[in-house]
Amino acid sequence: MKRKGIILAGGTGSRLHPSTISVSKQLMPVFDKPMIYYPLTVLMEAGLDDILVITTPEDQAAFQKLLKDGRQWGLNIDYAVQPSPDGLAQALVIAKDWLDGAPSALILGDNLFFGQSFSVAVRAAALKSEGATVFGYRVRNPERYGVLGFDSTGKVTSITEKPKKPASDFAVTGLYFYDANASDYAAQVTPSARGEFEITDLNKIYLDKGLLDVELLSDTTTWLDTGTHRSLLRAAQFVSVIEERQGRRICCPEIVAFDQGRIDAAQLRALAEPLRKSGYGQYLLKVVESQPRV
Ligand code: DAU
Repeated sequence: MKRKGIILAGGTGSRLHPSTISVSKQLMPVFDKPMIYYPLTVLMEAGLDDILVITTPEDQAAFQKLLKDGRQWGLNIDYAVQPSPDGLAQALVIAKDWLDGAPSALILGDNLFFGQSFSVAVRAAALKSEGATVFGYRVRNPERYGVLGFDSTGKVTSITEKPKKPASDFAVTGLYFYDANASDYAAQVTPSARGEFEITDLNKIYLDKGLLDVELLSDTTTWLDTGTHRSLLRAAQFVSVIEERQGRRICCPEIVAFDQGRIDAAQLRALAEPLRKSGYGQYLLKVVESQPRV
């Protein structure tokens, strides 16, 4: 059965208040495009066609206005709501009927990944049919994340959510590949001390069964946080530096769809025309006009 993708884009965004009182955090711009374009293009790069966007009830309409039914990018996008932000593992429970027995990839709507080696790792994870895959990334402040613990042979032996004394510098990123059992396992997760259904507890179920693959991302991958105004600004600066240096734009669903053959040049032009007053639209037009691309 073909793997399906889930973007979790709910939550209160309270660390970005007042900016996120009337706009969902995952719709805020990261430089030149809405934040959710970044995780969306990760799922596209993984080769997934069916995507469920989980939002708060009040923000759903705004996401639908932006992403529509996905057909414009060769995707099928559906929507579900999370009534209250009770934890990341709930995404799999909410998605159970929609998944209909398919394996999944869950990505947090505020996670930004970039890098050639990352795309390779993601495509490899998408091909596995049994168990789960998570990605570890070295960070300065592991205590803010789910943290990996290793034995002396380098095998992962523990995952701990926001530990006071981290077992390593490796955080678990917000991209998770699961087999078809994830929704049932997620339903077994009970609320943590902070009252949330933790994704770490779901990952621990796979770890305890010997079914968790952990891929450590090298430093040729960039994984950025958008949790605070400062980290959001840094993420925007990162995107702007890459794009201005290389003269191309990253993580545009229109371009990924075009490069993957999901849409043709005429369809790309039709998507670009209404945006031509923005640099983003002009870039899309430039891509159409500069065929063939290398
Ligand atoms: O970013 C990776 C980290 O994400 C992992 O290392 C941690 O193990 C994982 O628990 C999570 O930690 P955070 O503290 O960063 O999660 P946060 O509560 O900030 O939620 C992440 C995003 O998911 C955020 O944009 C809001 C959204 N969210 C959050 C919750 C709790 C929801 O949509 N629904 C929710 O119930």
